[in-house]
Amino acid sequence: MSLSLVSDTYMADRGEREPAHKPHYPLTPPVNLASAKVFTQGHPFQAYAEIRQQAPVMWHPMSGSEGFWALTGYADIRAVNMDAQTYSSQKGGILQAYLNETRRHPLLHRAALDTMICLDPPNHMQLRREHMAYFTPDYVRKLKTKVDAKIADLLDDFDIAAKQNNGIADLVPHISEKLPLFTLCEILGIPAADQPKIASWMSMLETAQYTLEQMEYGDMSQIDPAQIMTFMQEIQAMFDYGQHILKARRANPQEDLLSAIANVNIDGDVLPDEYLDGSWLLIVFAGNDTTRNSISGTMRLLTEFRDAKAELIANPNLISNAIHEAIRMVSPVIYMRRTAAQDTELCGQKIAEGEKVVMFYGAANRDPSIFENPDIFDIHRSNAKDHLAFGIGPHVCLGQRVANMQLEAVYRQILSRFPNISWTGEQTIAPNNFTHSVMRLMVDVG
Ligand code: HEM
Repeated sequence: MSLSLVSDTYMADRGEREPAHKPHYPLTPPVNLASAKVFTQGHPFQAYAEIRQQAPVMWHPMSGSEGFWALTGYADIRAVNMDAQTYSSQKGGILQAYLNETRRHPLLHRAALDTMICLDPPNHMQLRREHMAYFTPDYVRKLKTKVDAKIADLLDDFDIAAKQNNGIADLVPHISEKLPLFTLCEILGIPAADQPKIASWMSMLETAQYTLEQMEYGDMSQIDPAQIMTFMQEIQAMFDYGQHILKARRANPQEDLLSAIANVNIDGDVLPDEYLDGSWLLIVFAGNDTTRNSISGTMRLLTEFRDAKAELIANPNLISNAIHEAIRMVSPVIYMRRTAAQDTELCGQKIAEGEKVVMFYGAANRDPSIFENPDIFDIHRSNAKDHLAFGIGPHVCLGQRVANMQLEAVYRQILSRFPNISWTGEQTIAPNNFTHSVMRLMVDVG
């Protein structure tokens, strides 16, 4: 098997250091974009705007670790995504490496690297191709029938929960979490009885960055060892389950995506075990978390922009474009990283081979040179679909049709059944700087 792995040379922490070339746009970051805590208040849109204006390619130092070039402009982020030869996903992976190696969870860390999202051409396409049959318009259309029926059931339960609590309920456990999980399990072929396990692993992964950071930088006397033990055991259980189910599909293939992944053949070989872990982690995380947070974020927008909501209720045909606009504004994936594969220059800034380039999608999606009045939820925006929340280029999100379909389907039913629904203003966002992770969103069903 000739899949080459993400290079440890680029992953190794080279320690705090200056960039090889002087910053063309010298700016001290107004917020620490590497901090998980900063994102508990949502994307720092104000800071993004300031950075984009003053330093579209900004050197962002990191205390005790190697810094990175932070990109906040639409055109630069698009250009980097489109040029996989200069900006590699494979050399250093798509996550920033900033945790001390001794404190990384070894299996979680490795699995986050041994996956197609961290491969460059040509291996990337060999793996991606195997997934494609599960994301065609035809497949998604058939899937929608099951999704519509599931939404009706979920809304029944949600209604009951709200009625028992003066009309107030948490959207996350009832809808935002359950719908993407159901849809993904349908695509993957995971039995319904196992779905709660996957939901709990998702919550764990959303707070994993914070837990690992606490272990690295926190005062260990403040950390409950039992909680750490559970965290470690749950990660192991999640990968054991993935190996178990993928190997079962290898022995006995079904008509599902897990069977396709388990039986991928590259140069005459099946995927090695580490790629099974990586493929499992990627598909479960990518498919669940992002859609879940888009559902929650859309509810906030519909509450903040009441006129838009009223228009959507009066004319549900507008919902499809409103969903593109909502994903633009929510931008559930905060960043993706690339590593310069050669010396290069971007927007006047010289970047040296091996340096990290981090693209902040939420910033690109609020770039006023592309999206007029970017902070307004404009359901008629003619270029809403051009947002970069799904990335663009060779790694563009495979699941974007599935995500759009679910969001449109769920909001069609929510708005027709609960026209007075609104967010109460209460929410909890996880300390996570990779995905905008809404853990709790209280709504009044009206
Ligand atoms: C609103 C929902 C979603 C958002 C915002 C989102 C975002 C993204 C982004 C930004 C990437 C590009 C990564 C890169 O450039 O390195 C990506 C890739 C990917 N997404 Fe999504 N995603 C969503 C939903 C889904 C769903 C529902 C699935 C599966 C059911 C999925 C599966 C994947 C996979 C497998 C990749 C890797 C593609 C590759 O490397 O070729 N995503 N997604």
